[in-house]
Amino acid sequence: MEKKELLYEGKAKKVYTTENPDVLIVDYKDDATAFNGVKKGTIVGKGVVNNRMTNHIFKMLEEKGIPTHFIEELSDRETAVKKVEIVPLEVIVRNVAAGSFSKKLGIEEGFRLLSPTLEFSYKNDELGDPMINDYYAVAIGAATREEIDKITELVFKINEILVDYFKSIKVDLIDFKVEFGRYKGQIILADEISPDTCRFWDSETHEKLDKDRFRRDLGHVEEAYEEIYRRIGLA
Ligand code: C5P
Repeated sequence: MEKKELLYEGKAKKVYTTENPDVLIVDYKDDATAFNGVKKGTIVGKGVVNNRMTNHIFKMLEEKGIPTHFIEELSDRETAVKKVEIVPLEVIVRNVAAGSFSKKLGIEEGFRLLSPTLEFSYKNDELGDPMINDYYAVAIGAATREEIDKITELVFKINEILVDYFKSIKVDLIDFKVEFGRYKGQIILADEISPDTCRFWDSETHEKLDKDRFRRDLGHVEEAYEEIYRRIGLA
């Protein structure tokens, strides 16, 4: 399979068309941004970690009944995926208070939530991805009620699978963001699951093993990505 035209270049990935209209190739970069692109940098090797980790997790989720866009890993940085129409929502699940949740509600980072939470942001760079609720999403045509219900069912199932999996490698899954796409009438998991899009804390030391190290200038950014990669068994 070969890349044809560059369809889209995002902050962390390039997406190419292929000879098959139903298939795209995603090419993961080392570029890192935070705060809606205000902070920019490079995390050496990140593209490889995010590509291979996403594929590893998507394969695991497929085995447990979650439909995903994954087709085939083509190289360390490139993967063939089903061409979906992205639902313009960032779907965020939280198990432990951190980040914007802690800031907004004045709840200390690390507080274990009494039940997992779900929130939606409307994907729009100009607006800074504002948080919306399910009624807004339906009202503005971002998704239908049926799609929201399916996404909700899938994302809580994904959370359960991931919490158990990360526990087994001594990592607490604090929160994560995923995106879904429409493919042949079905809602499937798209985009990525990586240290860019999840908060991972070491279960014992609570050391941060994710992009917060870059966002907050905590140092040892590459090492954190490498450590997650190693624990997953990919290094
Ligand atoms: O910043 P906040 O606390 O809302 O982030 C929640 C989760 O969503 C974090 O795991 C973060 O990495 C992820 N996220 C993301 N892309 C965004 C915003 C948040 O992957 N644009």
